[in-house]
Amino acid sequence: MSLEGFTRIPRSSAYHLLHPRPAVIVVSLDSNGKPNGMTAAWTTPISMKPPLISVSIAPRRYTYKLIKETGDFTVNVLDANLVAEAHLFGTRSGRRVDKFAESKLTAEKSLKVKSPHVKEALAVLECNLHREIELGDHILIVGEVLEAYVKPGMMKRGIYDPKVAKVLMHLGGVGYVTVADEIINP
Ligand SMILES: Cc1cc2nc3c(=O)[nH]c(=O)nc-3n(C[C@H](O)[C@H](O)[C@H](O)COP(=O)(O)O)c2cc1C
Repeated sequence: MSLEGFTRIPRSSAYHLLHPRPAVIVVSLDSNGKPNGMTAAWTTPISMKPPLISVSIAPRRYTYKLIKETGDFTVNVLDANLVAEAHLFGTRSGRRVDKFAESKLTAEKSLKVKSPHVKEALAVLECNLHREIELGDHILIVGEVLEAYVKPGMMKRGIYDPKVAKVLMHLGGVGYVTVADEIINP
């Protein structure tokens, strides 16, 4: 069937049409108490009551193993000036390198979970592993949010102020963008 006004793309690339999305760092702990983090773009809010979010993680990631072992994790939202760190945490594995030691990011003790958070993050969600659901080549890690905090001045009326909070978003490949001006529906 012919389709007017659109260009068809392969089904396996369809997820690109849902980008840009925040590039966060998911942090967990190894059995020796050493922190590791990985960049993730496939996160989504799931429920408000209870507060649930999810991250889709490939089972071969070291992070997947650590979240299962620790039973918790933190989701760290980044400012656009941390793009080099997002790239490092998203291209090297904690199986081989200590990413925190190799970067300027600091793993700081969290309030409610064993996994630390990133001190330099714009915002943090502390999560307990609520459930994991095997789906295709990624596993949906569902986290219950136990604590959430944000750097002062980043929010206006309960939502990010886009003039101040330049949330790092992954466009695809090596491309990143950040939010532009707010568009208010009149
Ligand atoms: C911008 C960006 C987004 C990514 N998003 C995800 C994701 O959502 N899920 C995933 O499993 N891997 C994702 N990755 C790949 C992991 O971050 C990468 O494989 C990382 O090295 C895994 O680290 P680990 O082995 O220490 O857990 C992403 C990478 C980048 C650069």
